[in-house]
Amino acid sequence: MKLSLPKNSRLLDKEFTFGVATASFQIEGGIASRQACIWDTFCAKPETIADNSDGSIACDHFNLWENDINLIADMGVDAYRLSIAWGRVINEDGSANADGIDFYRNLLSGLKARNIKTFVTLYHWDLPQHLEDNGGWLNRQTAYAFEQYADIISAELADVVDSWATLNEPFCSSYLGYEIGIHAPGKAEQAFGRQSAHHLLLAHGLAMKVLQKNCPQSMNGIVLNFTPGYSASDSEADRQATAYANDYFNWWYSRPIFEGKYPDIIDSFTDEIKPKILAGDMEIIATPIDFLGVNFYTRAVYKAHPNDVFEEIPPTDAPVTDMGWEIYPAAFTGLLKELNQRYSLPPIYITENGCAMKDNLTAGTVNDLGRIQYYQDHLNAVDEAITAGVNVQGYFGWSLMDNFEWALGYTKRFGLVYVDYDTQQRFLKESGKAYSTLIKSRT
Ligand code: FCB
Repeated sequence: MKLSLPKNSRLLDKEFTFGVATASFQIEGGIASRQACIWDTFCAKPETIADNSDGSIACDHFNLWENDINLIADMGVDAYRLSIAWGRVINEDGSANADGIDFYRNLLSGLKARNIKTFVTLYHWDLPQHLEDNGGWLNRQTAYAFEQYADIISAELADVVDSWATLNEPFCSSYLGYEIGIHAPGKAEQAFGRQSAHHLLLAHGLAMKVLQKNCPQSMNGIVLNFTPGYSASDSEADRQATAYANDYFNWWYSRPIFEGKYPDIIDSFTDEIKPKILAGDMEIIATPIDFLGVNFYTRAVYKAHPNDVFEEIPPTDAPVTDMGWEIYPAAFTGLLKELNQRYSLPPIYITENGCAMKDNLTAGTVNDLGRIQYYQDHLNAVDEAITAGVNVQGYFGWSLMDNFEWALGYTKRFGLVYVDYDTQQRFLKESGKAYSTLIKSRT
């Protein structure tokens, strides 16, 4: 089974960037040479991770990185999106860790030497534990610590990075980590969720200014995830509930960046829930960005709830991935069009899209037709959005390889490459081959 696009599709232009993505904690291992982070601590707590696993070895990319970038080069992709582990490059006293910086310099130079563009995310959830011990993202100081980290690392690596993203999915860090507690650091209060979101966005704005100063030639921005909410019915109550959910989960992060304000629902929060926002914060958060990274996986359906404002209805008959996430590519096109309508946007890069499927490795082959179909449908969805006038300039598959899927440990496989965790052998899945063939077919 092949991936194909219409002959005149903009995705087939050589200027369109195709890539693969990973994140530090999910693949690196190599924990002895970095600071402990909140995910190390969270994994060590009982009943947090589905298979009781952790990130101590993961894909052992810390040792196998050269093999991995050869694999990336063989796939023929234009770009690789990775994240830097904050605690690998910055010591507890805030000084630079030369060995850690060397690790990323070697990796990034290796990519450049293979003609692969480097998309680096500064924060993909692995907050150093010592900062969490001082309150983590509930402490405003963490935003300034992030600014310093961004300053040091972007000055060090300016010559080998094509694109910097400040944060990956602040929704997950704040909501999953501090509001409902299913991600590290496992705190669960609504006020914590809202306050940490504000400090994360502040950290983003502060770091943006630093990146524009240190790396004016690179493309600098942020990666947000969106799960578009759809109303379960046409009733006014359900539609209002859905609009609220969209404000709460999606526009909460984009509106401050593009409009310098939170969605109006903030006015309905009690004083305990409202985040503390200091004068000037919203202007910092709204610092112009060069690109918006969009991560898309699925949609959500909402209806009104008599006590809470909204209730999510899980999919029943719809096709789902191994995550239980509904496969609904029309929401992807819809999202891109809506973003384009709402805001005056910089170019969009799809920084993550992909799916977990139940994979079987048989005689070195993973015949993952479901994943190929997912990619086909979602590439079509992007193509449609571009045809409708949305400026999308790149697409990254999540993920290069199977890895540590957070609270679900190693039980979910998202890779284009299969990882045998016992031997650390990698096998290009049929989806990986199809993706590679599509990319190489461009003339
Ligand atoms: C996103 C994360 C990424 C990965 C995918 C499946 O929310 O950014 O690390 O876990 O989901």
